[in-house]
Amino acid sequence: MIPVTQQHTIISPGPIRNWEVTPYGITGHTEDAIFAIQVYADHTIRVQVSRHEAFSPNPYAVIAKPVSGLFEFRSSPDILWLSTKKMTVTISRECFSLSFATPQGKVLCEDDPAIGINWLGTEVSCYKKLQPWEKFIGLGEKTGGLNRWGKAYTNWNTDSFGYGIDADPLYLSVPFYIGLNGGKAYGIFFDNPHKSVFNFGASNNRFSYFSAEDGDLDYYFFHEDSVASIIQAYTQLTGRMEMPPLWSLGYQQCRYSYYPDREVLRLAETFREKEIPADVIYLDIHHMEKYKVFTFDGKTFPDPAAMIKSLKERGFKVVVILDPGIKNDPNYAPYLEGIEQGLFIRYPDQVPYEGHVWPGWCAFPDFTNPAARAWWANKLSFYSSLGVDGFWTDMNEPATWGQHMPNIIEFHFEGEQCSHRKARNIYGMQMARSTREGSLQHADNKRPFVLSRSGYAGIQRDAAVWTGDNVASDEHMLAGIRLVNSLGLSGVSFSGFDVGGFAGNTNPKLFARWISLGAFSPLFRAHSMINSNDSEPWSFGEEVEEIAKNYIRLRYKLLPTIYAAFYKSCSSGLPVAKSLAIDYAFDDRVFQGPFDNQYLFCDKFLVVPVESFRPVTKVFLPEGKWYYLFNSQPVDGNQVCYWECPLSYLPVFVKAGSIVALQEPVNHTGEAHDGILHLHVYHGSGTSNHLHYEDDGSTLDYRNNAYFKRNLLFDHSHKVLIFEESRGNYKSKFHTVKIYFHGFGENQASVGEVMKKLEKEDVSFLDRISDFDPFPDNRHPYHQCEDTRTLTIPHPPAKLTITLH
Ligand code: NOJ
Repeated sequence: MIPVTQQHTIISPGPIRNWEVTPYGITGHTEDAIFAIQVYADHTIRVQVSRHEAFSPNPYAVIAKPVSGLFEFRSSPDILWLSTKKMTVTISRECFSLSFATPQGKVLCEDDPAIGINWLGTEVSCYKKLQPWEKFIGLGEKTGGLNRWGKAYTNWNTDSFGYGIDADPLYLSVPFYIGLNGGKAYGIFFDNPHKSVFNFGASNNRFSYFSAEDGDLDYYFFHEDSVASIIQAYTQLTGRMEMPPLWSLGYQQCRYSYYPDREVLRLAETFREKEIPADVIYLDIHHMEKYKVFTFDGKTFPDPAAMIKSLKERGFKVVVILDPGIKNDPNYAPYLEGIEQGLFIRYPDQVPYEGHVWPGWCAFPDFTNPAARAWWANKLSFYSSLGVDGFWTDMNEPATWGQHMPNIIEFHFEGEQCSHRKARNIYGMQMARSTREGSLQHADNKRPFVLSRSGYAGIQRDAAVWTGDNVASDEHMLAGIRLVNSLGLSGVSFSGFDVGGFAGNTNPKLFARWISLGAFSPLFRAHSMINSNDSEPWSFGEEVEEIAKNYIRLRYKLLPTIYAAFYKSCSSGLPVAKSLAIDYAFDDRVFQGPFDNQYLFCDKFLVVPVESFRPVTKVFLPEGKWYYLFNSQPVDGNQVCYWECPLSYLPVFVKAGSIVALQEPVNHTGEAHDGILHLHVYHGSGTSNHLHYEDDGSTLDYRNNAYFKRNLLFDHSHKVLIFEESRGNYKSKFHTVKIYFHGFGENQASVGEVMKKLEKEDVSFLDRISDFDPFPDNRHPYHQCEDTRTLTIPHPPAKLTITLH
């Protein structure tokens, strides 16, 4: 208990009284606190400091354990040192302030020596000295620019309908950021789910700090040689996504709400009639009877199984919305079960909490209770038995009208009961977890797809996320890009925004630009609100329909590249949409607006998001060389230039040396393609590498080697193209490869020579490269594709080497 006299006094840990070296690090006591510093990996060190007798458990985000024997320890009368191969922590014995440095002694981040760690009442804080020219990036779903210096943010999951582009907090909290200074990078993950504040030098010129309303100081410090390796270290700690189903990478159409059933079927038919590819239709809240989860409205959806079957016959997957609020209704089984089994969150007097949401007064399952998660997971069989393919966990901040849930509500928290103050930020993530577990349970070896609005660090293990109720405006479109980029810096790779804007009316130009950006976004979903104008690809007239159709088709062509990028993201934790701060962290131009919107998609495409009304935009091309996607025009990097961006041509550049894999577009991912893999090799230097990855796209069999995976290499100095031997026991669906060479200029002749040689061995030719042009009928002045000959060869699983003379 904190004495009354101390409630308004700043308390610091005080001098170290004793310590003990353990296999994982050191633990001990200061005058006023206990502490533990443990090594999780050479690059990851955890710091815990508490004023209680034991540390407060935070059982949700971290899935790794400390590792023994990775450090060296030294002490002197003033200092303790703990060193790994990647960093040294220096701890002052007098004031328990910590400093993290590289093995060479360059300080990365250090506590303010006077006020480093402290408590104000129950609030715990850690103040870090601002380093010269320090930049801060990440922190999950946070608005604002890429560099968060000079700003402060709150982590408190909030239903933020129609949020402003600077609003904070939003729906999801990831208390992890990366600091950059002096050419070095470090990361800090503050694993304390209470409402927390991160201040990156806002209203002061002395420190950055993070603080939480209660709980311990419990943070992980990361140091690695690059921003990418820090994200890898963070996702080693908090987990990575598993391969999503291929269909979830296709185009997804949503609306609040499509109903009745005939409207849903009509929507599906329209996509097919117009030959606009699409994979997913969402059912928002109007599919339910009185908004009660685990029901269908008998009038508007009299036979959901039959409707879903028809949709499937047309190649659509169905995702339904799940809201956590369970209507207080004595005739409603889920409510009665929850009451009987004690599964709802409660007040201290054991009365279930009720809040008002769509169905009226509702109780809320306690997703921090394993029994409630198991119950919810079981209940999902209702949907699976009807043929539903995926789930959309909405309103899971949790949202209640009025937005202020009482803090005295109690949560199970894996048996470590706590209040709303500690559990709120965890709730949405645990709803997503239980939903994923339910999907795995009922889906007969099928991969789950869960899309969640709320979450906490580690949400990437259980769900994709979207950025909630955005607004139909140009500035919101760009804000959404930054949110997705920031989520990617924070371990969440599979994310997206509502294409077209959720609230308000989209105009045709805005929709056109937004949908072309969506095609280059990890999650590609259009969604709009009740009473707003229609937002289907054909809702804005012929010109926009054509643009939308062509970019959606381009997305489907790109699927071999996108799927491979997801595979890499699953194994590395790095995002599919990469902020330029990952690969070009120490080029200041990356952080200048509007360049801070730019990102690399699939590691190959530099995407330049630009408003719909702008005919010309400024582009920052990072070091290296680039090719304009639509005509392969080479452009030098390390420069800022102006680029025309008519509505139909989103500025996208291919990184020199990339190998981009395409397929013929299909109407949906379940439809067989023509078996030809189109490989576009862009001239560069050194060795280009593309990982080709295929599996069945839908089951979990890939976990047991049912994949076809191989490296494709192009050695630019020796002009050798190598198809390494394939691995895994899945048979590739591509029987033929067509290889296109971009930017080889004078080398074209030699390409021709090789082709002549190979012709004898069953090689055919193709003359035009129009694969990337969204307007192949040559109407647009940008249509100037190179006339280039290509190689066409079989796609054998065995190793194949082609030398261009
Ligand atoms: C709020 C969600 O953010 C939105 O996407 C959804 O359409 C509405 N709830 C209605 O379910």
